[in-house]
Amino acid sequence: MNQQLINTVKSEFIKTFNSNPLMVFSPGRINLIGEHTDYNNGFVFPAAIDKGIVAAISKSNSEKSTIIALSTNERFEFSVNNIAPLENGSWQNYILGVISEIQKTEKQLDNFNLIFSGDIPIGAGLSSSAALENSVVFALNELFSLGFTKKEMIFISQKAEHNYVGVKCGIMDQYASMFGKKGTVFLLDCESLEAKTVILNLQDYCLLLINTNVKHSLAESAYNERRKVCENAALKLGLSSLREVSLNGLQSIKESLSESEYQKALYVIQENSRVLEAFEAVKQNDISKLGELLFASHNGLQNQYKVSCEELDFLVEFAKNSNAVIGARMMGGGFGGCTINIIKRNQIEEFKKAIAKQYKQRFNNKCSFYKVNLSNGTSLLN
Ligand code: GLA
Repeated sequence: MNQQLINTVKSEFIKTFNSNPLMVFSPGRINLIGEHTDYNNGFVFPAAIDKGIVAAISKSNSEKSTIIALSTNERFEFSVNNIAPLENGSWQNYILGVISEIQKTEKQLDNFNLIFSGDIPIGAGLSSSAALENSVVFALNELFSLGFTKKEMIFISQKAEHNYVGVKCGIMDQYASMFGKKGTVFLLDCESLEAKTVILNLQDYCLLLINTNVKHSLAESAYNERRKVCENAALKLGLSSLREVSLNGLQSIKESLSESEYQKALYVIQENSRVLEAFEAVKQNDISKLGELLFASHNGLQNQYKVSCEELDFLVEFAKNSNAVIGARMMGGGFGGCTINIIKRNQIEEFKKAIAKQYKQRFNNKCSFYKVNLSNGTSLLN
């Protein structure tokens, strides 16, 4: 955990509000495999990481709440008794959304002061938004003794995103961020929310994230549009999600789908099986099998589900042609953000140099690298 970040947020809070805050850390996440399967009630294979959001909070004892986003030095004031989504809001809407969802329950909230900052880049596909939502719901739960379970809290975070941000996201990000366990990956069944855990032992390999440093603007509308395509395909079979649809079932409605809709639904069914295979591979320490599955997943995301982009494809293609990497794919919602790579430990530096040079040449842009450790989920820091 980033002790310097914690100290900065805490001292800034004391300086600004003259009171001792409650401190919360909420992590971002990676996902080994299982992309765009969560909102289809399918399987995902995520883990929380040691980068995330640090939040400091206390009661305000006044008619207003003040929130400060430290990294951009933005200040936002409002009353919890009168909230609505901001038209051009960004982080503000994640927080207001959480408040609104809490208020839909019978629990009572008062005004509060909050300062937050983080060390996950926004828009990199590492779920800075879920980390922020979870940090806020968790902090409010502690501060006002609301008595929510972790499971209730992740649904509050998810609905905040649906209703205040407008992204109809699945439950993977909020789950991984809230329930993370050091060194551990979760095979999560997004229908039952049951998870099997496994320690990730990559032997001579490790995980390397490469950020394209781009986020194409169609990401949010395309996300919701993909979700609709999947729901419609399931509906044609009278089923509630693609999770329940078999390859044969899909075949039987092929005529009623466009080729592109068919490929998207097919991708989801195939990706679900890849997640289950990946879980077995990790259990058996079969790292090269895991790597193959990552490449196959990217291929599906690029060519069937069509949520990749030139920059992501370039990074994955480069990785595929390098003998340092045995598996790589785009991670998260797509249209930018990071790739996740399984890379030989002793070849990292050489690989980074080579790929950075080529990326710069091709896109006239820098790519960034993150090494992450798998961490515990959302928790109190004091
Ligand atoms: C985003 C969403 C998740 C999930 C991924 C794609 O991160 O928030 O719910 O759908 O995209 O797998």
